[in-house]
Amino acid sequence: MPTAAIHHDPERRLWLLSTAASSYVLHVDDRDRLHCRHWGVRLTPEQAASLLDRPATDDRPPTDVRPATDLCPPADAWPFEDGSELPLDLAPAAAFRFGHAQLAVRFADGTRELELRHRGHEIRQRPDGVELVLAFADRHYPLAVDAHYRLRDDSAVIDRHLVLRHTGEAGDTGGAGEAVTVVRADSATWPLPPLADYRLTQVRGRWAAETRLHRTALPFGETVLTSRRGHTGHDANPWAMVDDGTANEEHGEVFGCALAWSGSWTLTVERTTADRAALSAGFGHAPLTWQLGPGERLTTPVSSGAWTDGGFGAAARQFHDHLLRFVLPHPEELRPVLYNSWEATGFEVSVAGQLELAKRAADLGVELFVMDDGWFGTGRSARTGDHAGLGDWDPNPDRFPDGLAPLVDGVRALGLQFGLWVEPEMVSPESELYRAHPDWVLHQPHRVRSEHRNQLVLNVAREDVAEWMLDRLDQLVSEHGIDFLKWDMNRPFTEVGPGDGDLLWRDYVTNLYGVLDRLRARHPQLRIESCSGGGGRVDPGILARVDQVWTSDNTDARHRLAIQDGYAQLYPARAMAAWVTDSPNPLTGRRVPLDFRFHVAMAGVLGIGGDLAEWSADDLSRARALVAAYKQVRPLVQHGSRHRLRPAGDDFSAVQFLAPDGSATAVLAYRTSRGFAAAERPLALRGLDPAARYRDLAADRVHHGAVLLSQGLVPVLGPDDYASALVHLVREP
Ligand code: DGJ
Repeated sequence: MPTAAIHHDPERRLWLLSTAASSYVLHVDDRDRLHCRHWGVRLTPEQAASLLDRPATDDRPPTDVRPATDLCPPADAWPFEDGSELPLDLAPAAAFRFGHAQLAVRFADGTRELELRHRGHEIRQRPDGVELVLAFADRHYPLAVDAHYRLRDDSAVIDRHLVLRHTGEAGDTGGAGEAVTVVRADSATWPLPPLADYRLTQVRGRWAAETRLHRTALPFGETVLTSRRGHTGHDANPWAMVDDGTANEEHGEVFGCALAWSGSWTLTVERTTADRAALSAGFGHAPLTWQLGPGERLTTPVSSGAWTDGGFGAAARQFHDHLLRFVLPHPEELRPVLYNSWEATGFEVSVAGQLELAKRAADLGVELFVMDDGWFGTGRSARTGDHAGLGDWDPNPDRFPDGLAPLVDGVRALGLQFGLWVEPEMVSPESELYRAHPDWVLHQPHRVRSEHRNQLVLNVAREDVAEWMLDRLDQLVSEHGIDFLKWDMNRPFTEVGPGDGDLLWRDYVTNLYGVLDRLRARHPQLRIESCSGGGGRVDPGILARVDQVWTSDNTDARHRLAIQDGYAQLYPARAMAAWVTDSPNPLTGRRVPLDFRFHVAMAGVLGIGGDLAEWSADDLSRARALVAAYKQVRPLVQHGSRHRLRPAGDDFSAVQFLAPDGSATAVLAYRTSRGFAAAERPLALRGLDPAARYRDLAADRVHHGAVLLSQGLVPVLGPDDYASALVHLVREP
């Protein structure tokens, strides 16, 4: 039974967009402005129509003033005020609009105002839902704007984007044959209804400290979240949520949006002086502009939005569900347990050393072995450190005299899949590739080429560079039937050029996506992990092309709790790679017990990244048991719904995963530090059937659903700091 529906009321110029539990109501007014009249609970067509009978709070300033006088004119004629300053659903730079403009252009004669007229609509039935296209065009200049809204059955998320079309032809007179300069083209503006107050939820971060959840009162004016780095970035992520300041994990209205783009981006959260707010998300950043020539079109990336009254937990689950079912490739798959050699060996890779690690990993139950950095380059360009080799994607003959085959075959003989680290968008000045093609990097004439980690960025916006990259990777994957690439990117853009640097920011990402898409199409068995010095490139755009993300270079289990907590506010556990590494942690020096390290990593796609040659027999044997335990709960973690029982910032935190059919649940509980003479509060579980019984197989104990929901679960934790537990409960038939 389809749940996504679009109802059109032609008389009122109203469109009612309904998902399973919410409605989004669009209205074109008599000045052809597009408004969102409602974003919230699901409405019937009759209820939606009644919205227009209500005082139009969108259109005029406050009415609670004295009767009009010479000194104080009527409410709709206040000086310096115009209703159109309030957030619109399609918000062009025009006349009395002084706030953030979703759409801003410059026509050939210098005109910047847009006067859009509504030109019609189309409702397209799709196999998995329905799409609305609202057509607008400038009343004089050759620019058409189509606003797309896509809904899917059983999903709360609305996907939106814009298509700008230059409707002139080269040679047209009167300016119609000249290019239009696009100054801003946000994919969507999401106007919020009036709330008592506004609070912004975002993630902030930096390298090795990504995705830390941050909530703050929304200031008046424009709050801009952005990346001007060429990749999604460690310091911000292209999504935001707004509530009225009272929502919590379980209750309250939350409005959220995300942007599917892995280059530079801008997300503007505006709170007007009339106390209305809107989110607006798009690719690019000021002062970049793009030229749209006659006959050309510009399609923006998708911005996904969702509303819930179920608090931040439900908001997260709506996005998880959407990303899992409609964005990630191979949604049905379970990600394997992997081993990665980086923290164990650094750049010191050899066939014997890697095989030894692979043997130990296989013995623990690992399913995929990944050799990290250090395997390529020749002679003085050999990758024996970060000073050389990027771009020369041939095995280092000193380290791999017979190529990669002996290692790949050895790993396969152990029953493991084989994965390889690459950083295809980069080049070391000390490399054969750079010597052959010094013009292939981002650079500007007469400017220094700024190196970072001794490397430069290849200009992937160039077609020849993108083709070279695809061919090289294609060869590498074909030669060895590689199962998995860890695709890294370890520096931001600088000196963006030559030529039209503005366009390059966009074409780089489009070509990168093209290479990923074509590589996957040629190698259906290939799976890819996105990495950019850890979590520098995670967003719904890259998630459409990769299978998981390396979440952070920080593998300290305590820090990971916070990083994973923020990551999971938007992104699903199925796409969150998490390794168990050594204690003391190589980055922070913190000592954390093995069980705690495992339990933290088990909340995502479990991996192991420690130096197994140094692990004690006891640790190896315990690790084997923990990998086996993970495999038991893996379907719940990777495909179930995630409930954040206690936030990561607390000394005692916990997360619960529930099978889609309710047949089992897994709780991971963490106590970082003991209180004095204080027992932990029990964990009230979520989503269980109160009438059912649930068996804890490990403890051979049966719990009643009603008791777990009300009184909660008391996990058995050891007496020390960094105590943790995994409780796996299976519903009794
Ligand atoms: C940065 C990544 O995040 C690390 O895991 C590792 O792959 C290094 N690059 C290798 O240079």
